[in-house]
Amino acid sequence: MRKPLLAANWKMNGSLTENEKRLTLFKEKLSNLEHQDIVIFPPAIYIPQTANLLYNSDISWGFQNIFHESMGAYTGEHSPGMAKDYGVSYALVGHSERRLLFGETDHQILKKIAILLEFGMTPIVCIGETLSQYKNHETLDVLKRQLKAFLDPISCEQQDLVIAYEPVWAIGTGKAATESEVQVVHENIRLIVSEYDQWDADLIRIIYGGSVTAQNSNHFLAQPDIDGLLVGGASLKSDEFISICTQ
Ligand code: 13P
Repeated sequence: MRKPLLAANWKMNGSLTENEKRLTLFKEKLSNLEHQDIVIFPPAIYIPQTANLLYNSDISWGFQNIFHESMGAYTGEHSPGMAKDYGVSYALVGHSERRLLFGETDHQILKKIAILLEFGMTPIVCIGETLSQYKNHETLDVLKRQLKAFLDPISCEQQDLVIAYEPVWAIGTGKAATESEVQVVHENIRLIVSEYDQWDADLIRIIYGGSVTAQNSNHFLAQPDIDGLLVGGASLKSDEFISICTQ
């Protein structure tokens, strides 16, 4: 059985005061939800605050981005070991904003996944097609390429790894993909994963992200191959994220 995963990606938003209100409420309302995993991704600078406020709750916290070396002269980066010091158990990898705005490559993404697994953390690997690729019916080709870049070289060996399907055209646009569209894509992702012997495609969690709201979340979660949601904008509204997690 795959346990649903509900993740809040705050991107570059928040402040000490706002976060405190939001996290205190999350801890009060979202603890003891044993049938699902909940993870909050604040900006890295707020990880210590998040760790403090969520300590002793069932909610996890993660890095939005992490570097693929364990230490050294890499100005401005954070290593997985540093993340572990603050109880981090998840990290996003290859979010389309990192691929498109910061030029992150499949090769760098692969290295990040590898070091996260080495440090016992769960990578949430983001994949997705752009609007023009979608319009040209290239979605599956693009996803296959992005998946192959890490499924080929990485051996899962019972490791936890989550795949997040986030069509770029649905991110922050208010135009979510339909649940039936996403279900078909997720089925195909699972099929691609099943072609790799060492991966157990039935166990891997495939979550959806892109304009998820409290109105559409339960439609997505009702689909057999949608194992959770990666929520951006709506996760900044406490009541909405709480409702997504509890409905
Ligand atoms: P929105 O929910 O704001 O569309 O963002 C999705 C996303 O990029 C989550 O990682």
